[in-house]
Amino acid sequence: MKELTRDVVIVGAGAAGLTAANDLRAAGLSVVVLEARDRVGGRLWTDEIDGAMLEIGGQWVSPDQQALIDTVADLGLETYARYRDGDSVYVGPDGTVARFTGEVFPVSADTERVIARITARLDEMVAEIDPDRPEAHEKAAEWDAISWDAWLRAQTDDDEAVRNLAFATGSAMLTKPTHSFSLLQSLLMAASAGSYSNLVDADFILDKRVVGGLQQVPLLLAERLGDDVVLNQPVRTLEWSAATASASGSVVARTDEVAVHARFAILALAPVLYPRISFVPPLPRRQHQMHQHLSMGFVIKVHAVYDRPFWREQGLSGTAFSPYELCHEAYDNTNAGDPRGTLVGFVSDRSADDVFRLSAEERRERILESLSHYYGPDAKEPIVYYESDWGTEEWTRGAYAASFDLGGLSRYNADLRTPVGPIHVACSDMAGAGYQHVDGAIRQGHRAAAEIVERSRS
Ligand code: FDA
Repeated sequence: MKELTRDVVIVGAGAAGLTAANDLRAAGLSVVVLEARDRVGGRLWTDEIDGAMLEIGGQWVSPDQQALIDTVADLGLETYARYRDGDSVYVGPDGTVARFTGEVFPVSADTERVIARITARLDEMVAEIDPDRPEAHEKAAEWDAISWDAWLRAQTDDDEAVRNLAFATGSAMLTKPTHSFSLLQSLLMAASAGSYSNLVDADFILDKRVVGGLQQVPLLLAERLGDDVVLNQPVRTLEWSAATASASGSVVARTDEVAVHARFAILALAPVLYPRISFVPPLPRRQHQMHQHLSMGFVIKVHAVYDRPFWREQGLSGTAFSPYELCHEAYDNTNAGDPRGTLVGFVSDRSADDVFRLSAEERRERILESLSHYYGPDAKEPIVYYESDWGTEEWTRGAYAASFDLGGLSRYNADLRTPVGPIHVACSDMAGAGYQHVDGAIRQGHRAAAEIVERSRS
């Protein structure tokens, strides 16, 4: 067993862990990052599949994501806008395909009025939520006791309005059935993006991409750390002791090959994976309890590459939505400078469960059939087809991120980021601003590093 000694050991080389490691280094502390996989980046993974560069994980950057924007600039990376010229497509309850521009779906005037009324109400509620402390709102317990679906259905009996409002935080973001998380969780998701209106505005939330792929962020952050990032090292055990009057706290992180002795640790992995680590002594009661109330959402990100972006010839932007379709949303995802055209579609929560019961061929057929409802029959003939399936990834176990079950947010959130002795935490799944996004991962990496720098000076 190789023995290392550092000021801080960081578990996980995703955006959060690598951000924290660079900050700690800059503050003069020594670090090592232990990563379970054979690559850095975690949920950021840009790969070539059958000759096409695909963003298997996270990819988009929105204008409010200042921490990510700063990191992208610091690393000298360039961004480009998602293609959005032309009409968007909406498929209604009876399968009717309608073109539209702007953010308002082409629904009946009555349904549009209902959507506008409830959106205005949601924007008011979201404005009252501090994304770092949603539990501090005076109605937090009440709003955490009702499901997102039940609250929406109490506002109107217009089913099409409910489905359209629900999917922005449901299928599209938390990627869980809308009855399985609370109104408060939904408001947090929107507050983390600034407002509910921002969240439903694809031109805002899915604004830019990074030339060459977003995984370059972790790759370049890791490059700065050199040999202090060690791959293929799942941390199995974390021994820890809290500071006492006579001794400062310490940790020993053990993989199958390395033991790192450090003053502090940062758990920079999805909280649903904490139980994969044996903590010695065990984590306190509160952590044991609260981590069981967080679970990963589940979405399949589908990539279909064509010899050309044929939908643009029909005046379509590639942006498509329908709460009635298997692919509830899809976009033009053509890489910068690529003459081929790429569409990306998403199949979420129970629909994802359903299609994973099918054979690979049947699943592909069903998904391409759904895309063809938006873009026409040419969509059924991609030259490259790939499904990002994060549910099978041992070191992630779902997508995009983790959220609390009904009632969990108001009950536990105040303690989610609290260190336990020398153990600090950082992950997009516990962010306020940038929640469930790379921006949140970076913000949490900065926060955890700052906490340790502060403690190491006292
Ligand atoms: P992350 O999970 O990335 O990193 C944790 C690391 O810890 C992993 O590398 C893992 O292997 C490692 N690890 C786990 N257990 C370990 C152990 N025991 N020992 C050692 N290492 C261990 N965001 C966005 O901003 N824009 C977008 O467009 C999208 N789209 C998107 C699509 C898809 C398909 C996914 C899956 C995700 C997104 N996201 C996104 C979300 C975004 O990718 C995500 O929030 C962040 O990348 C998470 O970064 P973290 O560093 O917090 O965790």
